[in-house]
Amino acid sequence: MKILRTKKAASATSAAWRRDGQSVALVPTMGYLHDGHLSLVRIAKKRADRVVVSVFVNPTQFGPNEDFERYPRDEKRDFALLRKAGVDAVFAPTPEEMYGREGATVSLSESALSTVMCGAQRPGHFAGVMQVCLKLFNIVRPDVAVFGEKDAQQLAVLRRMARDLDVPVKLVGAPLVREGDGLALSSRNTYLSPEERKRALALSSALATAENDWREGRCDDARRAVASIRRRIAKAADSVDYVVAVDKDTLEPVERLRPGVLIALAARFGKTRLIDNHILR
Ligand code: PAF
Repeated sequence: MKILRTKKAASATSAAWRRDGQSVALVPTMGYLHDGHLSLVRIAKKRADRVVVSVFVNPTQFGPNEDFERYPRDEKRDFALLRKAGVDAVFAPTPEEMYGREGATVSLSESALSTVMCGAQRPGHFAGVMQVCLKLFNIVRPDVAVFGEKDAQQLAVLRRMARDLDVPVKLVGAPLVREGDGLALSSRNTYLSPEERKRALALSSALATAENDWREGRCDDARRAVASIRRRIAKAADSVDYVVAVDKDTLEPVERLRPGVLIALAARFGKTRLIDNHILR
C-alpha cells in the first residue's frame, strides 16, 4: 500500500493508474477507522480497479467550539487496517499541504440543503465538507467516491454539489453500519462514557420503533412519527438537537412516510453529539 503525503504524489499515482486504463475509487475519511469505514472500502473495491482512502481531519469543517483538536487520531492503526483491507494507496496530507500556509481563501457557499438539520447547528460545516471533498476529487480524479449513509445529509449535499458543478465523479452511498446492540458506528463513540453509551441506544431503538410502526401500518404520519421519536430520545439524551422526516435527496420535510424518506436525528449525551438515521426502503 502506497502512503502518499503530498497532493502531487496523490495526483501522479492516480493519473498513472488511469493512463493504464484502470478505474479509481476514492473513500474520503477523517481516520480513526471503524467497521463502517471498512465497509466503504469493500464497496469501493467492487466499484473500481484501484482504491485510494484519504485520511485527513479537515479543519475547515469544524466550528470554533467543536472538537477539531481532540478528534481521535491513530494513523498507525488506520494504515494497518487499510493495508489489511487491500487498499492500494492512502492519501494522508497535513493541513498545510492541503490548504497552503495561508489557508484556504475560496470556499463554496452553503445552500438550502446545508443550512438545515446538522447545518443549522453547525454553521459552515458543510461548506468545509464541500471544500475538502472538491479538492480531493480534483487531486485524485476518482471515477467513483464512496460515502456512508450514516452522514445522509453530507451525501445529499455532496451529490448536489457534484451535480451543480458538473464534477465528473459518481457518488455511491453505503448503508449505515451498527454495533450488535444497534448503536451506529462513529469515531465519536469513543468519547462516550459507558453510562452515556447505554443511554445512546435510545437513538437506534426509537428509529427502529418508527420503522416498525410504519411497516405495520400503525403510523405513516410524519409529524406524529417525529414527535414520538423525539419523546423517546428526550428521555435518554441530555438534549435533542433535531428529529426530522425528509426526502432523502432534497431534504425537504414530508407529510407522509414512504420509501425514500430519511428519518434523521441528532442528540447530545454529555459533551458528545451523535447523529443517527434511517432511510425507509
Ligand atoms: O465524513 C467524513 O468523515 C468527512 O466529513 C469527510 C467526507 C471525510 C470530509 O472531511
